[in-house]
This record gives sequence, structure tokens and C-alpha cells, in this order.
Amino acid sequence: MAYSKELIEHYENPKNVGSMDKDAEGVGTGLVGAPACGDVMRLQIQVNEDGIIEDAKFKTFGCGSAIASSSLVTEWVKGKSIDDAGKIKNSDIAQELALPPVKIHCSVLAEDAIKAAISDYKDKAAKKNAAE
Ligand code: FES
Ligand code: FES
Repeated sequence: MAYSKELIEHYENPKNVGSMDKDAEGVGTGLVGAPACGDVMRLQIQVNEDGIIEDAKFKTFGCGSAIASSSLVTEWVKGKSIDDAGKIKNSDIAQELALPPVKIHCSVLAEDAIKAAISDYKDKAAKKNAAE
């Protein structure tokens, strides 16, 4: 199976590997698993007061395509508003990386992870507002 240059680049030199303090202000954490294979992806975002994602980090326990998908997504979301980041589709990721059909679920994992991170951020912000 031939993998795209883009995919191999993100797999060999993944961007934004790491973690953030999930309790820190403005941090949203998404932790998702792929039922198809059991792989797990954690994606975190740091959101500023204007709702812009300033930084993103990930850790993925999974295959090369899942690692490449999460690396790509962390690059894409930086500088985006949370609304725009929430519109990223797995098909955009799959297309950019030229994922083969059996690896499409790896890009679904990345879409689910960013959505989960955004909703965690929103939940935390809502709780904080309620407490103030
Ligand atoms: Fe889990 Fe991809 S099947 S590593
Ligand atoms: Fe399961 Fe890629 S996330 S094979």
C-alpha cells in the first residue's frame, strides 16, 4: 500500500506531541477511542478569551494514520476560532493525507477528538461562569 508524502511526513515528524494541564484555564481535552481497532487519541486545545485556539497538543496511542491525522489537526486548529475548528471534517483530513479506505476511521478519530476537546472547553467555561 502506498502512503502519501504528507502522511509519512506527519508520521515521522509529528507536530505538537505533548500534553497540557487539563484543569488549567482555557484548556479543553478530548479523549476518544476507535471502536474499529481500539486505538486511543487525546487532543488538547488552549483557548484564549476571544475563543481562538492558541495552541494544541496531542498524544495518540495508535497507528501511523491516526498519529498523522492528529498531527495535522493540531496544526490546522491553531489560530482558528473554536467554531471554525469544530467544522473540520474527517473527510478533509483523509483527503489531505490521502488515506486509504481502511484507514478512514483514523481520521474520524481526529475529528471526534477535536470536537470532544471543544465541548470539554465549553463545559468548563460554562461551569466557571456559573460559579462566578
Ligand atoms: Fe490499531 Fe491501527 S489498528 S493501530
Ligand atoms: Fe485504528 Fe488507525 S486509528 S488503525
